[in-house]
Amino acid sequence: NNHPMPKEKGIDHTIQLLKEGYHFIMNRKEKFDSRVFETHLLGEKAICLVGKEEAELFYDETKFTRKDAAPSRVKKTLFGEGGVQGLDDAPHHHRKAMFMSLMTEEKLQQLKQLTKEEWEKEFRQIQDENIVVYEKAKSVLTRVAMKWVEIPVEDTEADKWSDELADMFEKAASIGPKHWKSRYSRSKMEEWMEDWIEKVRSGKVSISESAPLYQFSFHKDLDGELLDKQIVAVELLNLLRPIVAIAVYIDLLMLAMHDNKDEVAQMNIDDEKQVTNFIQEVRRFYPFFPFAGARVKETFTWNGYVFEEGTLTLLDLYGTNHDPAIWENPNQFQPSRFHDWSRSPFDFIPQGGGEYLIGHRCAGEWITVDILKTTIKFFVQQLAFTYPKQKFEYDNNDIPPLPKCEIRLRA
Ligand code: HEM
Repeated sequence: NNHPMPKEKGIDHTIQLLKEGYHFIMNRKEKFDSRVFETHLLGEKAICLVGKEEAELFYDETKFTRKDAAPSRVKKTLFGEGGVQGLDDAPHHHRKAMFMSLMTEEKLQQLKQLTKEEWEKEFRQIQDENIVVYEKAKSVLTRVAMKWVEIPVEDTEADKWSDELADMFEKAASIGPKHWKSRYSRSKMEEWMEDWIEKVRSGKVSISESAPLYQFSFHKDLDGELLDKQIVAVELLNLLRPIVAIAVYIDLLMLAMHDNKDEVAQMNIDDEKQVTNFIQEVRRFYPFFPFAGARVKETFTWNGYVFEEGTLTLLDLYGTNHDPAIWENPNQFQPSRFHDWSRSPFDFIPQGGGEYLIGHRCAGEWITVDILKTTIKFFVQQLAFTYPKQKFEYDNNDIPPLPKCEIRLRA
């Protein structure tokens, strides 16, 4: 027996989404007392979902498609056109495997080593200075990203691209001049990547076969053809850009360390489990990616609600990470909650849910955790620093701006 989905009245609620930010879906879940409801966003009907079972539904690829799910302004800035995010079924699995094949023990080990070295390099010259962690992290991560993808450039050349890489995620959902700056940075970066792909394909530069740059340049699609170089460029940027975006989490990590001094003091930094729990709680507690979007593949009914073909559907990532049905005291920062976390792929979803290979869960989740773990170890073990007087705040009522607080340290 079907029943109507709770429906928000009014023509469009995009303005409320921008104002209520990360709380938009949870606020309505409370109002309607329902984890499924309908609203209107960016001029179209949208179904919103929040919760564990709802995440399981959202990641059922027989029910949802990613085709035309991302707004065009986001494709032109954040994601790029023709990349893995917009693929479905076999073509998606094949492309996703290209990403996941990079996540070997050896490559992750190299990533940790690079992160440590670049942080050391960044602070070598610094003596009793105030620094903005977010800015430092972007420089460090730009060099880490270039080296890890094995683009054969010097540090000074790598450093030059830091702003372009950041423009793609900092200004992704903006309007007006910021949007255009973001698009311009993406096209500049794509052109630069295409030059490298040509050089690698023609043998003008020789790099190791295991290099991500090499692997992507010579990846063949399901028809056995090389990918268009524009698409390879988009996929290489799907590695470089989000590695630099980890700067947002590093900023929030420094805030977490400030706000939870006792927890940090008690933590044994050599205990992998304790460090991992702290990092997981940073990714659960703070906002980053607000929600994931898909469209209904073919009309279906779930728990009595009809999901009509083509309807835009949003899964609340932030809300699910703060869902009181899943997390005890969700608004308290408690790393120990991860001691006995069930490891379900559908309840802790800061970087999307479901499976890596067959679903759209973030390809870079292990990279993110490893970089954050290496970073907290560096700051605790190798750096002497204090927090100068400042506001320890971030804004979580505002999308599109990122939840950065620009923590300053005296190092
Ligand atoms: C997908 C978040 C870091 C590569 C995603 C998704 C989210 C996300 C929410 C989409 C999930 C969905 O659509 O269902 C984040 C956050 C990061 C981060 C918050 C922290 C900075 C990374 C890193 C990489 C990466 C470091 C690569 C090195 C990707 C790729 C996809 C993806 C390739 C597309 C997966 C697919 O469509 O199958 N990420 N990510 N991400 N992420 Fe990340």
